[in-house]
Amino acid sequence: MIAIHADLLDFPSAPHWGVTDPQAVRWRPDHWLLVGDDGRIAGVQAADPGPEWIREDQRGRLLMPGFVDTHVHSPQLGVMASFGTELLDWLHTYTFPAERAWADPAVAAAGSALFLDALLAHGTTAAVVFPTVHKASAEALFEAASERGMRIVAGKVLMDRHAPDGLRDDVAGAERDCVDLIQRWHGRGRNAYAVTVRFAPTSTPAQLAMAGALCRADPTLYLQTHVAENRDEVRWVGELFPRSRSYLDVYAGAGLLHARSVLAHGIWLDAADRAALHEAGAQIAFCPSSNLFLGSGLFDWPATAAAGVQVSVASDVGGGTSLSMQRTLADGYKVQALLGKDSGHDLTAWVALHAATRGAAQALQLGHEIGLLEPGLLADLCLWDWSVGPVDGQRQRVARDLHEKVFAWMLLSDERHLVRTWVAGRQRYERDRA
Ligand code: GUN
Ligand code: ZN
Repeated sequence: MIAIHADLLDFPSAPHWGVTDPQAVRWRPDHWLLVGDDGRIAGVQAADPGPEWIREDQRGRLLMPGFVDTHVHSPQLGVMASFGTELLDWLHTYTFPAERAWADPAVAAAGSALFLDALLAHGTTAAVVFPTVHKASAEALFEAASERGMRIVAGKVLMDRHAPDGLRDDVAGAERDCVDLIQRWHGRGRNAYAVTVRFAPTSTPAQLAMAGALCRADPTLYLQTHVAENRDEVRWVGELFPRSRSYLDVYAGAGLLHARSVLAHGIWLDAADRAALHEAGAQIAFCPSSNLFLGSGLFDWPATAAAGVQVSVASDVGGGTSLSMQRTLADGYKVQALLGKDSGHDLTAWVALHAATRGAAQALQLGHEIGLLEPGLLADLCLWDWSVGPVDGQRQRVARDLHEKVFAWMLLSDERHLVRTWVAGRQRYERDRA
């Protein structure tokens, strides 16, 4: 039973765009968060809970729910910051060769452990993850997540064409692997299975149909894929699927759009696509760091939200250049700034941090488990310094109100500011021990 004394910030209701009013968030400075032996939040209070609790004096630090990264690739840490290509060249030059090594279960086990420890060391306690086409890569990820108690949504990547040797499956073998992995891992501990279509170009129509049948057979399964990221990719999908109205429509036609679908990017969608996403209850994972790095384009978050589509935020490492959700959100602000004032509103810290915690949890239908500092939810928590040096320290000192303070933190902080991470009440990262 631990009690943490810090500045508590979370986001029970969805903030409105452009509103910086502190009423939009729940700010409980100088409060105690109590964690029970069951790993759940037991209470939040202003008063000292007394000596029967192990009391942690973290006054002057920020305590928030752990971040949820809704799109990230476990085998791509070594692909980050690869020079000089856009998506399709980047895949063939850097990414596919790196993923081939994960056929080896020992590589997949060591890589998964490194990857999950890195997430925890960046303040991310839950993630929706692409491993590789190899069954062993999904096994290794679920094993490593179970050891750490983390909430992970993942599945073996499906790709039966337009990929090099060693990275292709086939419909029957892939279906067998999926069924087996679902039986072994879906709903076991905090693991959930996602039918994982890499993207339309690397699956035959027969494989997409198989993926759709898996989703129909069990509506508790997730679905993850990429959509409308890059203009050459969109053109290629148009050639491969001439009868579909749009890229998104390829997935809709295969039965892959539903309330547990997580589609990364969604930059090059039109109003009909957004209406279809809204209708299905599917979410877009906005990946600003990746979109800037790969020159993919500027995702219009306000327009997507206005269509009623849920938007979460994701690092998309290794297209993205950092696992830090603050860096990702800072890039998200800059993307929205580039879209211009006419496109909607500037990205407030409230909208951004809600999307990376409570909003993502709800979009994943996990609002009862993660994303808030609320009694009964699991204690997936991160403790942050407001500043770590004289420069951001100075910026914090001159902040005049809560939004200015938190916005400056979001734009200027990163994993160096992370002091501790707890997963289900167990400490899993400590900076001074790292
Ligand atoms: N589209 C298909 N595969 C990938 C990938 O690994 N990363 C990104 N960013 N886009 C993709
Ligand atoms: Zn991706």
